Amino acid sequence: MRKKRFFSGIQPTGEIHIGNYLGAIKNWLNLLESGEYEGIISIVDYHAITMPYEKKEMQDRIRKCAATLMACGVNPDNSLLFVQSQVPQHTELSWILTCSSNMGELERMTQYKDKSKGSESIGVGLFSYPILQTADIVLYKAPFVPVGEDQIQHLELAREIVRRFNKRFGKVFPEPKPILGEAKRIMGLDGGSKMSKSLGNSISLTDSGKPLWKKLASAKTDEKRKLRTDPGVPEDCNVYNSYHLYFSSSEDHNKIQEGCTSASMGCVDCKKILLANMEKSLGPIAERYQELMETPQQIDDFLQKSAIKCREIAEETMQEVRQKMGLR
Ligand code: TRP
Repeated sequence: MRKKRFFSGIQPTGEIHIGNYLGAIKNWLNLLESGEYEGIISIVDYHAITMPYEKKEMQDRIRKCAATLMACGVNPDNSLLFVQSQVPQHTELSWILTCSSNMGELERMTQYKDKSKGSESIGVGLFSYPILQTADIVLYKAPFVPVGEDQIQHLELAREIVRRFNKRFGKVFPEPKPILGEAKRIMGLDGGSKMSKSLGNSISLTDSGKPLWKKLASAKTDEKRKLRTDPGVPEDCNVYNSYHLYFSSSEDHNKIQEGCTSASMGCVDCKKILLANMEKSLGPIAERYQELMETPQQIDDFLQKSAIKCREIAEETMQEVRQKMGLR
């Protein structure tokens, strides 16, 4: 049976956090493990340069991102994993789709509004970011896009752009459908905003031991629970909602419900249970990550071979696009 194709992208932040993992990567892995899907996964460096960055850090960020994904289970048997800027057709198609997009629909994007808030000079790259994202997906004619909740709006726009293009030039692209994972918005350690590396409230996928404990120890819990003797409400606690729910067993959930609401268990004890559970599920990923980083040849090989294959697929699509548009 022919496998269904999905496309997804991830920014090379250098440190993939558990918000990325629970919101998107786990979703990819579930699809890959089902045996029904093949993945085309891009480390989107062209998206990353829409914000200020240190040029000397970029290659390291890309390699760490690739190593983390490979440590999670993305491999040459189930996926192509490549760096976006190594497939120039992404920017070519992005320009073409720019000419099928309009300002109003881009101005409505929440991510754009959030990221440009307060700045007096807004980059055009930040503005047209969702068009490049659309190009990423449709270059491979991928019908499915596993993403976190925050990307749903971009996917809706992608479908709109695709419909417009197909109507004008004839059907080339399928309308990409999002596949949402189970995890809702994963909040940061501060409990007040979405987990994000730039906000400094994130837990890295490869954190363990002391550094992990330091972060968990600082995490906000139920604010109404001021004293150890006050009973708490797990549903009002970010540590419970964002982390225990995903890393702890239902047995532990029951234990915490009971202990927290009766004040027989303190927040520190509750966080210790979380630490043990997180180390159990993330420990093997951290170990494989270390091994991969010590033998980077494996990583670079995978990225390069994938890029060759992706350029082939992408060029085939582009020939069809240029021809349909009367460009060749
Ligand atoms: N914008 C996505 C994010 O910030 C990353 C991304 C780029 C992407 N291109 C994509 C996701 C294509 C899905 C499909 O998470």
